[in-house]
Amino acid sequence: MCGIIGYNGIRQATNILIDSLKRLEYRGYDSAGIAVLNNKAIEVYKDKGRIIELERDLPEIISTVGIGHTRWATHGKPNKANAHPHTSGDIAVVHNGIIENYEHLRDRLTQLGYVFVSETDTEALAHLINHYYRNNLMDAVVSALNDIKGSYAIAVLCGSELVAARKDSPLIIGIGDNENFIASDIPAILKYTRNIIYLDDMEVACVTPDCVSIFDINKRQIEKTVNTIDWDLEAAEKSGYDHFMLKEIHEQPRALHETFAGRISELEGNITFDGLNLTEEEIRSISRISIIACGTSFNAGLLGKYLFEYMTHIHVDVEIASEFRYAHSSPGSLVIAISQSGETADTLAALREAKSFGCRTLAITNVVGSTITREVDSVIYTRSGPEIGVAATKTFLSQVGVLYLLSLYFGKLKGIISSDRIKLMLVSLKKLSAQIRRILDDKESIRYCAEAFAPANDVFFIGRTFNYPIALEGALKLKEISYIHAEGYAAGELKHGPLALIANNTPVVAIATRGPIYDKMVNNIKEVKAREAPVIAIADEKDSEIEKYVDTVIRVPSTEYVLSPVLSTVVVQLFSYYVAKSRKCPIDQPRNLAKSVTVE
Ligand code: F6R
Repeated sequence: MCGIIGYNGIRQATNILIDSLKRLEYRGYDSAGIAVLNNKAIEVYKDKGRIIELERDLPEIISTVGIGHTRWATHGKPNKANAHPHTSGDIAVVHNGIIENYEHLRDRLTQLGYVFVSETDTEALAHLINHYYRNNLMDAVVSALNDIKGSYAIAVLCGSELVAARKDSPLIIGIGDNENFIASDIPAILKYTRNIIYLDDMEVACVTPDCVSIFDINKRQIEKTVNTIDWDLEAAEKSGYDHFMLKEIHEQPRALHETFAGRISELEGNITFDGLNLTEEEIRSISRISIIACGTSFNAGLLGKYLFEYMTHIHVDVEIASEFRYAHSSPGSLVIAISQSGETADTLAALREAKSFGCRTLAITNVVGSTITREVDSVIYTRSGPEIGVAATKTFLSQVGVLYLLSLYFGKLKGIISSDRIKLMLVSLKKLSAQIRRILDDKESIRYCAEAFAPANDVFFIGRTFNYPIALEGALKLKEISYIHAEGYAAGELKHGPLALIANNTPVVAIATRGPIYDKMVNNIKEVKAREAPVIAIADEKDSEIEKYVDTVIRVPSTEYVLSPVLSTVVVQLFSYYVAKSRKCPIDQPRNLAKSVTVE
């Protein structure tokens, strides 16, 4: 998704803008550009393609103030004309989000004599600010924002004036010594400062080298807290791994540990959350839960459904957020929104819809201060640390970790799960980190297996009950990073159609950890074997039976059946990673995808 950077200080602005834009590459982009004040005039350099190419073509520039952008096309093709910044007279603008009344604004501004040179909605904003400009940039920006409908995070440059604003799209202000920053994401500026102000919706910031003043949309000045970021830039870099994805897969034992830290006490069988804001009585009265999420977070939500229904007997609906919004029945009394970024537009829109029904809302997210956290009644942070790879890995596992704790906690209050059972589950949960390390230590066997199947055109992942969401997640990971067509199926559903596609060139990854319906899973494996499909089973290390039915077995340590999805997840992640690596795919930045999807 698009990235924004702004700088006003005493150093060379171009160096800082380019360096910061490179740190935003992980968000995914198709063009990049900067605008700087060079000798009293705004100069713009932008093009389709990589930042490194933009940097190579830059002339010598002396400037201490500027803005920059990485664009992921939403309005118009990825090309030079559509790349940001967009200009109108002396005004330059970079923008994330979508201006919904852009057609109307375009007509209005064209009648006023403005000439459009791009297909973007952002250009209308540049002209609108120019239209209102009377020697005060903030006034012009506020007037323009009052005319637009939609979402935005913007940085606007006019002479040495630098202004930022946001609505429904993330933006932060970095506070330095004689220099200040604007950015859409913390890693972009962490090298320069740890002191961050989170801009809220409808706030406008005027950024000079020695001062940041923040106003509401009525131009009333407001005081904001300066937050200190306590994680390192190194944590946002690769630490010697070939890809962020592999690094983040290896960070999962730590991430899960952090997710559980301070929240469980296995001796007493206690689970506590700081941000839950729900009384025990309120939890006992919940009769239906709706989970809303997208993509990988949806898969975590689906596992959440199985967990809640098993541990609490509460009925749970899991909805794809972009569909939920258009449903015609009311959601459950508790709505749980799952989003690693906390910025996904579809999830936010669904959440707002749920709120209109008066439901209690709870967010499970990784990003402190993200938009979602400011719109819900309660937040549980996953504490995975920054995730740079576009394909979610550790954030997924931490979401799942929270869902285990939450469903156990609700199950205890509802009287469905006994104290003794909870204690045992908590002990097993705590062991998971060490068990994941064992899988990681043996990753070469997974690599070996993945390389053998890397030439496949189609791969199926199958599982039942708690393993079904992991089949979906395995298929999603494989398709997004290796570009192989992959399907995740509930294994019992294959015979109702997809079995027609199974043949000797269709590898099937069967998640077959031991559990109450293991025998049925084995029957499903036999169905695909009968069609000569090569089958890779993910199975318990103590299962001596499975090798009779499959071609390859990848073992996971023994744990409770309901917890085994955590371990199978690590296997499907590594499998997908090594297939993609073998196919030489750009693993951390798959084509057409973005880390944070802030458009509906
Ligand atoms: C896939 C992936 C996406 C996200 C989805 C929702 O690896 O990362 O499918 O899960 O875009 O994003 P969040 O969780 O930020 O709401």
